[in-house]
Amino acid sequence: MRIAVTGGAGYIGSHTCVELLGADHEVLILDNFANSERDMVAEIAAIAGKPLDTAEVDLDDRAALGRTLEQFAPEAVVHFAGLKAVGEAMEKPLDYYRVNVTGSLNLLDEMTRIGCERLVFSSSATVYGMPEHVPIPETHPLAPTNPYGQTKLMVERIIEDLGRARPAFSGVSLRYFNPVGAHPSGRIGEAPRGVPNNLMPFVADVAAGVRPQLTVYGDDWDTPDGTGVRDYIHVMDLATAHLAAIDLTGEGPGVRAFNVGSGRGYSVMEMIRAFESGSGREVPYTVSGRRPGDVAITLADPSLAERRLNWRATRDLATMCEDVWRWRSGRGG
Ligand code: NAD
Ligand code: UD1
Repeated sequence: MRIAVTGGAGYIGSHTCVELLGADHEVLILDNFANSERDMVAEIAAIAGKPLDTAEVDLDDRAALGRTLEQFAPEAVVHFAGLKAVGEAMEKPLDYYRVNVTGSLNLLDEMTRIGCERLVFSSSATVYGMPEHVPIPETHPLAPTNPYGQTKLMVERIIEDLGRARPAFSGVSLRYFNPVGAHPSGRIGEAPRGVPNNLMPFVADVAAGVRPQLTVYGDDWDTPDGTGVRDYIHVMDLATAHLAAIDLTGEGPGVRAFNVGSGRGYSVMEMIRAFESGSGREVPYTVSGRRPGDVAITLADPSLAERRLNWRATRDLATMCEDVWRWRSGRGG
């Protein structure tokens, strides 16, 4: 199939493109490189051993977006492009609504115009807000607590409405839990700009000696060891979930949302220990107070994805840590 991938040069998009090429799809990346490097495209091609096309396009530029899509004539679109930092979204909400919501509207408009009816959208577990119970099934109330989460929920709803209006349309929203890991080649991975907000890239920086220590945000949570528990999912498992979702869009019209997580939780302390054994490095830490907005535990109920997508996470915590370390140690200081 011809598949257009918005944001395909980014962290999750790049790994997904490798898998798409591996499955013999023809891939076009549309990216403005606001949060990724142009070199990523060559890395993706090198890992896959196959070429792919790239168009430097901003989703804001509807004319250029339309021209590019028209020329490539994709049979399906995987839509990763967007902004994703919760803290930044609180400071610059309009940027988030513009890029994430208006950008998605532009994409859906142009897909509709060229008659492309299959979409896979990057949503987030953040659409659930504060979990009322764990594990979280897709039927859990949707109540995002920040503008980033609002944009994800809005786009999910826009896609649902489009599905109601267009009988041939088929869409899947994937609600990612906590993506971590890197491609086993060590050639692509997560490279946050500035100080990482998320645990795994911060731990990797500490192990690499770039930051002196990790701050653990609270050890008095209601969890077995008192530190926060999350459902970490290897980015390569996430990539294969997209392939399964694309296949599902080929089975017929309709719009669905799936959790993409492992259903297994790890605490901050377990992550530190696993990273120490995966890297052979020490990860010094101190414990501080809780981070505002944090919760004790988030955990996916991935059973719907297992049933309907015939997909499940297979890579364990040791693999996540080893793969992150291979990528991080290859990049130096
Ligand atoms: P990323 O920032 O690495 O990738 C996003 C890509 O989109 C980048 O290459 C960036 O340059 C591009 N982009 C941004 N704005 C654009 C625009 N206006 N036009 C064209 N391209 C644009 O992020 P990621 O971690 O790979 O996340 C991908 C998607 O998954 C995002 O939509 C994000 O919200 C969602 N998501 C990510 C996580 C996570 O923890 N990484 C969790 C849940 C959901
Ligand atoms: C964050 C985002 C969330 C997003 C998710 C997946 C926030 C508030 N939430 O959530 O919207 O869907 O990532 O990308 O940013 N921790 C430390 N020290 C650190 C960093 C994190 O102790 O320096 C702890 C946290 O308190 C938490 C765990 O590690 O218990 C994971 O944190 P993080 O990686 O930021 O993910 P989430 O909190 O799940």
